[in-house]
Amino acid sequence: MARARLAPRASIVAVVAVASFVALAQITRLAADPPAAAHLLAAVGFAVLMIVTEMHPIQVSHTTRLSVTAALDFAVALTLGPAIGGLVAALSSVVVGWQQVRHQCQCGLLSVAFNAANATLAVFVCGIIYQTASSLFSGPFASPAAGALAGAGYLLVNLGLLAGMVHVSNQQESISRTLTRWLHALPQYLGLLAIGGVGAAIYLVSPMATLLLVVPLAIMYYTIDAAMRVRRETKVAIEALAHQIDQRSRYTADHSTRVAGYAEKTAIALGLAPSQVDLIARTARIHDLGKIYLPTQILEKDGSLQDWEWAEMRKHPITGAELVKSFADYRDGADMIRYHHERLDGRGYPFGIDGHTIPLGARILAVADSFDAMTSDRPYRAGMTFERAVRELQQHAGTQFDPRVVEAFLRSIGPGDVSEGVCASRTTLPAPRSAVAMSLAGS
Ligand SMILES: [Fe+2]
Repeated sequence: MARARLAPRASIVAVVAVASFVALAQITRLAADPPAAAHLLAAVGFAVLMIVTEMHPIQVSHTTRLSVTAALDFAVALTLGPAIGGLVAALSSVVVGWQQVRHQCQCGLLSVAFNAANATLAVFVCGIIYQTASSLFSGPFASPAAGALAGAGYLLVNLGLLAGMVHVSNQQESISRTLTRWLHALPQYLGLLAIGGVGAAIYLVSPMATLLLVVPLAIMYYTIDAAMRVRRETKVAIEALAHQIDQRSRYTADHSTRVAGYAEKTAIALGLAPSQVDLIARTARIHDLGKIYLPTQILEKDGSLQDWEWAEMRKHPITGAELVKSFADYRDGADMIRYHHERLDGRGYPFGIDGHTIPLGARILAVADSFDAMTSDRPYRAGMTFERAVRELQQHAGTQFDPRVVEAFLRSIGPGDVSEGVCASRTTLPAPRSAVAMSLAGS
């Protein structure tokens, strides 16, 4: 366990050491050749703006936060150069990190140090690339081309370091996988860099006019925030709908919430990546959404179902999967819903597929779903005891259920989880520029 914690710590120390060396070298350089007062004033202005924007990130997905600070990082690197730019980014990051340490227990000192080092290096490299490319290129497109290269360098360092840190903290998360997960925020990032580039161009004409940068930044902030709010509200509405479907039958009240808790614990016990755990837990909450089209008399029926009623019941995985495909936050879980009633031996429904052609998430949902059904009261029988339900799972491992999933499930729960239900928690991953992985938080 100690060795597992050492790698992230050592990696952070290495990144911070490099950034500190760069910062010290630049301070020495600036002390020997002090910048103009106007540049210092602009640096203070950029630092204040960075602190304000960094303290107000936008939640763009379940796993990613975005702050508009990237525009300021880019503008400061292009206008004030790598030395002042890197120091301004470091200073603003330390101030924001210090505030987070004071007010949020999730943020540790190492996280603050890593964020500051990351910001320093990203802005420094960005500034160096811009200066070098500007001196090499000529013609009307020299500055835009140098800016494009500098922007690419900024993103590469900023996101690359963060993805690397996520990887050393959790070997399940490969660097490419983390970067792919952030890809959906790339248009917003490119938009921010474009705003930063325009701000830098304005600075060359009139430094004071750079303050106008606040206007497009504010517009972008509120536009992205409004779009994300709609997305968050959609998620709340879908989960409320799924909850209402459970409530339609007195026998399934809160069923999906409990299944989500079981599924999340099982996914963690299987060692899945946090993003997969989060997707499985979110999907489990709405796994029976397709029952929305089922008449209440079928859901509430005390006796066994007639053939036509079973035929209707068997449609709900397909209906649910088709419904969630319309929603970006749930689309990746559609196949888990489609196949959550399939069995390992191919005797499930609606398709009768077998073995590992059934997605792992669906195999997890099948175990969690069945366990909750067995331990809940039904019109024709009382809920099984924990021990009896465990025996049922073990007995059907290899035929109905994936034995590896059953084993992980049994490792992750105890008798207390049945009566109280398991509360699914959120797994929030880091935001580029603004936060390091939560797995480092306690470092
Ligand atoms: Fe179902």
